[in-house]
Amino acid sequence: MTATYNTLLLILCSLTDVCIGYDILVIFPEPTKSHGILGDGYVRLLLEANHKVTYITPFPWKETPSNLTVVDISSNLAISGEYMANVTAEYTDQDTFLQMLSYTFGRMVVTHPAVQSFLRIPGQKFDVIVAEWIDSEMYSSFAGYFSIPLIWAVSTQLYWQPIRLMDEVPNPSYSVDVNSGHIPPLKFVWRLQELKTQVKKQWVLRCS
Ligand SMILES: *[C@@H]1O[C@H](CO)[C@@H](O)[C@H](O)[C@H]1NC(C)=O
Ligand SMILES: *[C@@H]1O[C@H](CO)[C@@H](O)[C@H](O)[C@H]1NC(C)=O
Repeated sequence: MTATYNTLLLILCSLTDVCIGYDILVIFPEPTKSHGILGDGYVRLLLEANHKVTYITPFPWKETPSNLTVVDISSNLAISGEYMANVTAEYTDQDTFLQMLSYTFGRMVVTHPAVQSFLRIPGQKFDVIVAEWIDSEMYSSFAGYFSIPLIWAVSTQLYWQPIRLMDEVPNPSYSVDVNSGHIPPLKFVWRLQELKTQVKKQWVLRCS
């Protein structure tokens, strides 16, 4: 009988362990309010579920609860307009523009002094990262840095770019780009255009 009780106790103890909250790094750094609202939603839900959150955001909260640490990159808001204008002027083609905008904003985040000093805090540990995926895998480097798993938060519709994060790029004969106006079934010329978009976006990410 005692053995049964002991086993039951052991099982109950191991279950309580599962319910302990995680230390989560949430990265929603786009200098656009709609992305900030979305990030806030993730953070609020995680806090309510008893996790501890560290939040990289350009929209710091007025009141920070004790279980939330904010890495404030709000100074990016002031300069993002000029960066945006320069990328717009330099890359007139829409596919290249979107990829380069993602890359440029991503650089503004990882090189931000608040992020750099955050990364230099010794002995810091997290259990998982939740990062916004926005046209590139820029923020996956945080997962490598902390050697922890990464969860992508994808706010666009599910098209070939987010799908390639999970599996391979789907066939352009059946799947269209997020900014494409084509609706399947695709004509031959449209298929070629979709293929071109896939090749070009990946080329820009890797080679520009
Ligand atoms: C963390 O903060 C949120 C929001 O303020 C709150 O709902 C939650 O109960 C807090 N959790 C703990 C463990 O303090
Ligand atoms: C934007 O372009 C102008 C003109 O080339 C340049 O002087 C400025 O430094 C650029 N700004 C940024 C943030 O790159």
